[in-house]
Amino acid sequence: MTAFSERVEAISISGIREVFEAAGEDAINLGIGQPDFPTPEHARQAAIDAIEAGDADGYTSNFGTQSLREAIADKHARDDDLDLAPNQIIATAGGSEALHLALEAHVDQGEEVLIPDPGFVSYDALTKLAGGTPVPLPLRDDLTLDPATVEAAITEDTAAFVVNSPANPTGAVQSVADMREFARIADEHDVLLISDEVYERIVFEGEHRSPMEFAESDNVVIVNAASKAYSMTGWRLGWVAGSERRIERMLRVHQYVQACASAPAQYAAEAALSGPQDRVEEMVAAFEERRDVLLDGLTDMGLDVPTPRGAFYAMPAVPEGWVDAVIERDVVVVPGRAFGEHGEGYARISYAASLDEIETALEAMRSATRAVQ
Ligand SMILES: Cc1ncc(COP(=O)(O)O)c(C=O)c1O
Repeated sequence: MTAFSERVEAISISGIREVFEAAGEDAINLGIGQPDFPTPEHARQAAIDAIEAGDADGYTSNFGTQSLREAIADKHARDDDLDLAPNQIIATAGGSEALHLALEAHVDQGEEVLIPDPGFVSYDALTKLAGGTPVPLPLRDDLTLDPATVEAAITEDTAAFVVNSPANPTGAVQSVADMREFARIADEHDVLLISDEVYERIVFEGEHRSPMEFAESDNVVIVNAASKAYSMTGWRLGWVAGSERRIERMLRVHQYVQACASAPAQYAAEAALSGPQDRVEEMVAAFEERRDVLLDGLTDMGLDVPTPRGAFYAMPAVPEGWVDAVIERDVVVVPGRAFGEHGEGYARISYAASLDEIETALEAMRSATRAVQ
């Protein structure tokens, strides 16, 4: 029999799916990583118009359409004080492909990639697929990543480190001072900083600043997507931004694995980025209200939960058996262990669900907490 590659044998299907299967059909799903809002109407309409006009039938440039990349560059100028040219951006199939390109283009066989632990599941798997070795970094008590931890872990084999703010699965937002430090580390140690900014618009406290703004070298690449900000996970549209030489290398990979991002999705994302932003603001306000309800409920049960300042996840420390007891009560939450070894003893709760669902889920969590204590 033909053998499978060592790279693919080194990874497995994310454990999150098993959790979904363990819960009943009518379970309340607080395991999910996507906003429960519709894509803005003007974004949908832009895709429909492009399809009807026949503009979305063919390949676009490998980079993505010029007008989408101009809209992305405008977004970075507006929100992040970054002056990017359209040829410093590639439109990708979601933030997922953007991460893949960044790792494929920069990591050599056996090189190390420092990743937050607990952290988004793809960092570990995509590093291994690129032939690299993930090095999990524990977080501070407030679940942010300490720049000193990154700096201490750098060796001559380090190719890159990943910063994700606001973060999945913790909801933590790095301070501006931390972001400056990360940029300094990337400059001084000459390692690549992959800044995953897919939750960048969903911040309740503190402020999002990209480390690219602070770096003096071109050692920062940004991964972002329309997925979370515009509730467009199904459209599969993200982007990677960096210096021209880095983009040129990433384009080599993108050209062969993807050719170009989906054309209708590119039109939709362009409209989302350049049109009215009030839907984003409404969504963020709704998430903040739900976060407060969830946080109060968890704290009242005696659980220790660092205040999530962004994204739509909370990550309380939970007693042994708690996650199973919650799932038995038909509420899906994800064990922290699914996000890395340091996630043990935590649970990720997504509040991309209605207030009613959150209230009902809190009842189940109260009952589960009593049962396992
Ligand atoms: C931190 C983080 N980065 C990247 C992604 C990938 O997003 P996309 O759906 O755009 O591929 C996700 C999705 O959950 C995420 O949580």
